[in-house]
Amino acid sequence: MMPVVFLLLYVVSCSIHWVRTDLSILLSSKESQAWLDAVSQINQSANEPFITVVELGDSMEIPLYNTKDVSTYQNRHIFKQNINKRVDCYLFANILTLSSSANIYDSCYEALLTREIESNMAGIYVYTDDEFSSALGLIIVRITNSFQWFNDTKPFSFRKQPTIRNGTQLSLAFETMIYYNSNSDLRLYNQHIDGIVQQAKISINHPDHSNNLHTFFAMDKLSCQRHEQIADDNVRLLTLVCLTEVTFQCPLSSGSTCWIENKRMSNIVLNINGLDFVSDRTVTVRIDV
Ligand SMILES: *[C@@H]1O[C@H](CO)[C@@H](O)[C@H](O)[C@H]1NC(C)=O
Ligand SMILES: *[C@@H]1O[C@H](CO)[C@@H](O)[C@H](O)[C@H]1NC(C)=O
Ligand SMILES: *[C@@H]1O[C@H](CO)[C@@H](O)[C@H](O)[C@H]1NC(C)=O
Repeated sequence: MMPVVFLLLYVVSCSIHWVRTDLSILLSSKESQAWLDAVSQINQSANEPFITVVELGDSMEIPLYNTKDVSTYQNRHIFKQNINKRVDCYLFANILTLSSSANIYDSCYEALLTREIESNMAGIYVYTDDEFSSALGLIIVRITNSFQWFNDTKPFSFRKQPTIRNGTQLSLAFETMIYYNSNSDLRLYNQHIDGIVQQAKISINHPDHSNNLHTFFAMDKLSCQRHEQIADDNVRLLTLVCLTEVTFQCPLSSGSTCWIENKRMSNIVLNINGLDFVSDRTVTVRIDV
């Protein structure tokens, strides 16, 4: 009973928290005003929302300003809003605000720039200068986070059992994570991001001609479940938990063995917003015929 009560309280307190934006805690009055002006300008703009999907752990460089005419544009501001609608100020009147530990704005390149994308960088950024206000919705994905083989219901390890018979069937379970925010003050961004996340799906591409995977693995009966939660008290997280059946086959004649080393499971693909993110997990196995 206790955990259920706790969970309910947590959900209630979250939704209360979500009702309105309190700018006074973190922003000065000038910063708050700049935020409100920018949000109402973006809200009135007819432009399509600018939404980008990037992969956890990759490097990133997303230019925010047109740097050609640096001298004419002043008073640049950058904000980020998280799922609790908390607004952090990264840059105010061209000066980086050091209070934000997740400072990923590089003022030399005028870009969101990092060597390694972290999950808490997902969210909705608002950036402005004297001339315009714009926003960026950043969705961060991680494909095949966990990767587990099963023989029926028992976990199976190729490290312990490196050789299997031709025709062996195992199940493969893997998870794909999608970090995002669709609870900002920018309604159109929220809607677009929700749409993109809802349409995201895993597929098994066969055959993948750049990699002769399908010669050795036949993947079948893919099924995925979706779990939603909040990660790091900061971003929404959708986890796609998928299961597929894999039949191992070696096309050689009886008495032969196929040696498969570090083969990338590149036929497992996350399709999101028109982009494909390919699994980087590898398999090493010997298949005896
Ligand atoms: C954004 O626009 C909608 C109507 O299109 C309006 O109801 C809402 O108050 C506006 N929000 C802000 C923050 O300007
Ligand atoms: C899978 O489990 C069954 C039943 O325990 C066993 O007979 C079979 O050898 C196992 N397969 C592999 C590849 O280990
Ligand atoms: C190896 O396994 C595949 C898939 O089950 C099967 O189609 C093929 O005939 C087998 N090869 C031999 C030589 O038995």
